[in-house]
Amino acid sequence: MSLIHPDRLHSYVRRVCAGMGSSEREATLVADQLVGANLSGHDSHGVGMVPAYVDGFVRKRLQVNQHVTPVVDSGALAVFDGNSGFGQVMGYETTEAAIERARTHGAAVVGLRNSFHIGRIGHWGEQCARAGLASIHFVNVAGHTPLVAPYAGADARFGTNPFCVALPGQGDRPAVLLDMATSKIAMGKARVALNKGVPVPDDTLLDGEGRVTTDPAGMFVHPRRGALIAMGEHKGSGLAIVCELLGAALLGGLVMSEDSMRRHTIINNMLMIAIDPEAITGRDALVAEAEAYLDYVRASAVREGFTEVLMPGEPEHRSRIERADGVEVDDTTLGELRAAAKVVGVPDAAEELD
Ligand SMILES: NC(=O)c1ccc[n+]([C@@H]2O[C@H](COP(=O)([O-])OP(=O)(O)OC[C@H]3O[C@@H](n4cnc5c(N)ncnc54)[C@H](O)[C@@H]3O)[C@@H](O)[C@H]2O)c1
Repeated sequence: MSLIHPDRLHSYVRRVCAGMGSSEREATLVADQLVGANLSGHDSHGVGMVPAYVDGFVRKRLQVNQHVTPVVDSGALAVFDGNSGFGQVMGYETTEAAIERARTHGAAVVGLRNSFHIGRIGHWGEQCARAGLASIHFVNVAGHTPLVAPYAGADARFGTNPFCVALPGQGDRPAVLLDMATSKIAMGKARVALNKGVPVPDDTLLDGEGRVTTDPAGMFVHPRRGALIAMGEHKGSGLAIVCELLGAALLGGLVMSEDSMRRHTIINNMLMIAIDPEAITGRDALVAEAEAYLDYVRASAVREGFTEVLMPGEPEHRSRIERADGVEVDDTTLGELRAAAKVVGVPDAAEELD
């Protein structure tokens, strides 16, 4: 393990993106989100994604310096195409459009289709919350083999289809940020466990024979790859299916199928609903009501085996405080990051990791 200052990780990501030909703005948006994910405690969506992005670039699945283009635009309803561009740019531009439209109309339903990986969805919820808006995000993942088995299924049929809800709070910090994969653990968490040589939690993974295992290697064996288990039994499995249908089918985006999984890419589609509280009771009233309610929930007696009752978003907030001066990166990931810098002709970028 090495402890690396977030500024140096940020610089590493910017330099690798520049190696791929990204503009400074694009490189900064990518670095902001990836390092932000590490700071939030989600290493699965942090700088460890860089090798996958470099691979997407080399295979011409990821196009640099793209912008969203409108496909549908009727004011409060808009759909954008992400042109297989960096999801950090596509997510940012789509969310800016949703914020602007929600301020004009009180609410906006905005879709993004055909974007390369849009990373940690909470990042887009936080962008809305900073602007004073509440937001709901349904996301699917397509373009590669499915990773998650449906309830009662022994093999994978969908991606880790994330769902997110954010509500504005005091200042820049959301009052609530529920941001989750609909699998029990995110795929990146199995990768992180494999790289660290540690087991995954009980009852989160099936091996290639459909048996429950804690060995993350089960997820990476070809051709009989295992599957992540959907969260929340039949209810979580249902939410994952709804993310696929609202986040992609409704928008004309790529839905998981025998055909779409052969593209060897990481496509995300996202349906977001942004709501301006100023059009209803006002932001201050919402924040006051939300904080009073959250305090009431927090005051629940703590169950045996637990130490406290946390609200969605609190673990990420604490992680940001703890990691402000350094993020631990394991040796396998460091090796992959060094190799990725070489592939795009900027081996010196790896000096940021020393
Ligand atoms: N782009 C994609 O394709 C994609 C796919 C899947 C997941 N993701 C991202 O992966 C990240 C990780 O997802 P995850 O499901 O592993 O997250 P997680 O399980 O760590 O957290 C899920 C939610 O539960 C909350 N939470 C965590 N511990 C808690 C506790 N003890 N008490 C109360 N609340 C708690 C968190 O604040 C968060 O809102 C997310 O940011 C998600 O957006 C992205």
